[in-house]
Amino acid sequence: MHNIEPTVDYNDIICADTVAEPSAMVVFGASGDLAQRKLVASLYGLYEKKLLNEKFFLIGCSRTKLSDDEFRMRCKKSILSVHPDLNPDELNVFLSKFYYLSGQYDDQNYYQEISRKLDALSSKYKLCGCFVYYLSTPPTLFPVITGELGKSGLSYGGCADSCKKSRIVIEKPFGRDTSSSRELNAKIREYFDEHQIYRIDHYLGKETVQNILMFRFANSIFEPLWNRNYIDHIQITIAESLGVEGRYGYYDSSGVLRDMFQNHMIQLLSLVAMEPPVAFEADSIRDEKSRVVNALRDFKEEQIDELFVRGQYSSGNLDGKDVCGYREENELLANSNTETFLACKLMIDNWRWKDVPFYLRSGKRLKKKTTEIAITFKEVPHSMFSSVGIDKLTPNTLVLKIQPCEGTSLSFQTKRPGSKACMATLTMDYDYQEIFGTQMPEAYERLLLDCMVGDQTLFSRFDCVDKSWQYFDKVLAHWKKSGQAPYLYNAGSESFEEADALIKADSRQWRSL
Ligand code: BG6
Repeated sequence: MHNIEPTVDYNDIICADTVAEPSAMVVFGASGDLAQRKLVASLYGLYEKKLLNEKFFLIGCSRTKLSDDEFRMRCKKSILSVHPDLNPDELNVFLSKFYYLSGQYDDQNYYQEISRKLDALSSKYKLCGCFVYYLSTPPTLFPVITGELGKSGLSYGGCADSCKKSRIVIEKPFGRDTSSSRELNAKIREYFDEHQIYRIDHYLGKETVQNILMFRFANSIFEPLWNRNYIDHIQITIAESLGVEGRYGYYDSSGVLRDMFQNHMIQLLSLVAMEPPVAFEADSIRDEKSRVVNALRDFKEEQIDELFVRGQYSSGNLDGKDVCGYREENELLANSNTETFLACKLMIDNWRWKDVPFYLRSGKRLKKKTTEIAITFKEVPHSMFSSVGIDKLTPNTLVLKIQPCEGTSLSFQTKRPGSKACMATLTMDYDYQEIFGTQMPEAYERLLLDCMVGDQTLFSRFDCVDKSWQYFDKVLAHWKKSGQAPYLYNAGSESFEEADALIKADSRQWRSL
């Protein structure tokens, strides 16, 4: 394999970004892990890039009792862990916009207090803009908080030029099956309209995931090939080397299907398979994505074990270190049958994709962390080189490398100098960070900015969430009914026999990790 270096024409770079609207952000679960690990540092990132409006303030809400200063100190630590070299004066100016209120999430008085604080700070900051409620709490609290916000009159629908409008940001998981997600949605919709609801899927905030749109729809050379006539099959892999860590409580009631497939995997699949949208605009894009999920081929219960292969990691060795199995992570998991790996085959019934299989796999404690979409093109219809003994030509593969080595690669055959018929597979490869010389921004920076701009493109619309749950519901129900344990695979491995058999049955194989 040989690599060809690409170049970038810096005179040709087109950028478009919008500064956030004047916004007040109310973060529920503000002392928790997600808020501290991702949100505050991402907000600082926006502030540093001058994308945060000058009229901005944040109210942290949670049950933990803290003063404004104690809250600022916590946030300072979190920000410094991500941006260690920043200017302390700048940081203090930024943190002076942070406030804190503790209370109980089901107590109406708490929301009255939040309302008064929002009014007082809005006057102080002369803020005529948007209140963004960010729910970074356990999912059981989503309906409680939205209900209380609504009852307290804080869910201002607002019109474009109104001084009081609001948006609500909901972290995943959005329900755990069709009925619970519909129930949650109905609760939120009692007080918020769809245009106010921002359902987070952090994969959509990743630069390389957004690049799928640019790659497909800002170039004309790929579109004629992007269909059943030229593509043999597509593999989407989200492999992780980490285990469940401290999140076993949540994970054990979820499993990889709910945790990764219903959301992240379906988003990647729909971006790669959708028809060209009319405009780079939220509903045009989300309409097309939704059509893909709608076209997923239905299956019978008796096909489930063949099409969806589950695994659970047992002990093994990763990077030279012995690691325990899933059931040993905590005594509560000793008898767990929760799947930590899933491989499946999906078909999309439309003109573009008829008979092109999509093989998807995701798992924890695999050999290494890697997320990629690999598009394998068909073999040449006839090898003229068979007369000189070359019958099997390696098909072209285009790989959209989502993480951690972000980039794109395309492999093709070429003549090797020397003998008359000697071929080599060449890979044209580029690495995002190397070529653009910049660190990849945290996915949450993009998502937070878009909430404050009012752009829902990178957020899941309910119809898509709903269709995705409907597709997977049958699988979940079948697993529950059968009570069968998943296959075991050793931590640190790439795959296991039964997962391999799924793709081997079609005379193909998984790409190596
Ligand atoms: C989260 C899942 O949504 O995504 C985690 O809950 C998973 O289990 C994580 O580890 C993976 O995200 P990333 O960005 O590291 O690929």
